[in-house]
Amino acid sequence: MNNYDSNQIVVDMKGITQKFGTLVANDNVDLTVHRGEVHALLGENGAGKTTLVNSLYGLYHPTSGEIFINGEKVIMDDPNVAIQHGIGMVHQHFMLVKPFTVVENIILGLETHKHGVLDMKKAKDQVIALSERYGLTIDPDACIQDITVGMQQRVEILKALYRGADILILDEPTAVLTPQEILDLIQIIDNLTKQGKTIIIITHKLKEITDVADFCTIIRRGKKIDTVRVADVSEADLASKMVGREVSFKVEKSKAAPSDIVLEIKDLHVKDNRDIPALRGLKLTVRKGEILGIAGVDGNGQNELEEVLIGVRKAESGSMTVNGTDLLGKSPREILDHKVSTIPQDRQKRGLVMDYSVAENIILENYKKEPFSKKGWLNFEAIRNYARKLVTEFDIRPNDEDYRAGSLSGGNQQKVIIAREISNNPDLLIAVQPTRGLDVGAIEYVHKALIAQRDKGKAVLLISFELDEVINVSDRIGVIYEGQIVGELKAEGADENEIGLMMAGGGKK
Ligand SMILES: Nc1ncnc2c1ncn2[C@@H]1O[C@H](COP(=O)(O)OP(=O)(O)OP(=O)(O)O)[C@@H](O)[C@H]1O
Ligand SMILES: [Mg+2]
Repeated sequence: MNNYDSNQIVVDMKGITQKFGTLVANDNVDLTVHRGEVHALLGENGAGKTTLVNSLYGLYHPTSGEIFINGEKVIMDDPNVAIQHGIGMVHQHFMLVKPFTVVENIILGLETHKHGVLDMKKAKDQVIALSERYGLTIDPDACIQDITVGMQQRVEILKALYRGADILILDEPTAVLTPQEILDLIQIIDNLTKQGKTIIIITHKLKEITDVADFCTIIRRGKKIDTVRVADVSEADLASKMVGREVSFKVEKSKAAPSDIVLEIKDLHVKDNRDIPALRGLKLTVRKGEILGIAGVDGNGQNELEEVLIGVRKAESGSMTVNGTDLLGKSPREILDHKVSTIPQDRQKRGLVMDYSVAENIILENYKKEPFSKKGWLNFEAIRNYARKLVTEFDIRPNDEDYRAGSLSGGNQQKVIIAREISNNPDLLIAVQPTRGLDVGAIEYVHKALIAQRDKGKAVLLISFELDEVINVSDRIGVIYEGQIVGELKAEGADENEIGLMMAGGGKK
């Protein structure tokens, strides 16, 4: 991006160490950031990235180390201190008030008053001026619950800017965005840095780092490994610095041997929350021993398809059979009992019980079954052994099945769900955006695990907004557009442009 001033250090974190009990989440980490720079933090799931920025924002109090902002030593004991020093943070899970409007959310807590009356008009004008200045297009009067995730993120950024932020921390901002929204965000970041704002961004996508960042600090298992000038390194260099080994980006797999039909969906009609048709006669089949990938732009019915499949949304008409049994309209529990496992898209809402341990979360769906319980008594040893095995296999960090799920890093929470669902031994595995928020090493592992399921004769339905992932992992691809499968093709040798065209409605029958 190259808008930075190498003479002006705005953030200087020195020797930051953060311990949680015996776990050392940050081990003597240094981070130096200049004015106008985009500085990326890269590291595996659980490496300590969020912990480091939480210390900068005053959410965590480092065990030792010092923080200097614009040359002044600051004790960041709470986010208000950070805000006073011009630091703003956009968390991965937004903190907006859903029924309030965009402007109300932005000014919340900082209302301007005129003779004791809230001067809404002035506040709104200020918000509009800010949004125009940085190209952060928003509708000031829209309610948060009615706008897209990408828009909500803009509101979060505006909220920080409204509070005077000069240094913006973005923790995995792109994990929740569609490819188009990512391009918009990159443009916004460029506008911000051109006007002297400084950005600290966490992302697992190496391409985003090479597209947007000036410098990248790599953290591995709590320790700073290096800070590099992004122009001087390749994506492969970044990946190997981060993992400590070479990472293969290519998914190796043998030819599929599909047999009997497991999932068959015919003429499915489903409405969305606003009562507008979302699936309009959708039809698909998945056989034993194959991975069907659904490619498509977000918002073309993927969410509704997932919700019908797991039994939390009602269909208008159509049929959905698993191994010949019609499961349309059945409860989530009944669907689960028909050997259907799901890695859901919304893993905050449908994934984990945060206050339970990793082991308890792993047996959440099966605790009543043998060997985990017998005659109503839980068999703690069987539970522990099983959980321990999965924690090791899926490289969940820390390697401790008693750890509280809510204290795991974002990516490791994902891994717990993936481990649980895959190891459920389903006939049909539905994986929705399964690698969102995972580091490159973990992505490699999850892709292999999906293919291993296929090779065991399972049917796998992969729904992903990442075309690369769909093409690399699937055997067959179905392109979804406006609630229908508008094209089907073999994944091997599939042409990305051709699929892209169909995703945009160009292949509509
Ligand atoms: N409040 C907490 N209590 C206990 N342990 C914690 C807490 N916060 C973080 N940890 C631990 O500190 C380590 C670093 O976590 P952190 O969230 O910083 O990782 P991360 O690099 O952001 O990973 P990810 O890419 O998965 O988001 C992890 O092992 C995590 O379990
Ligand atoms: Mg994190």
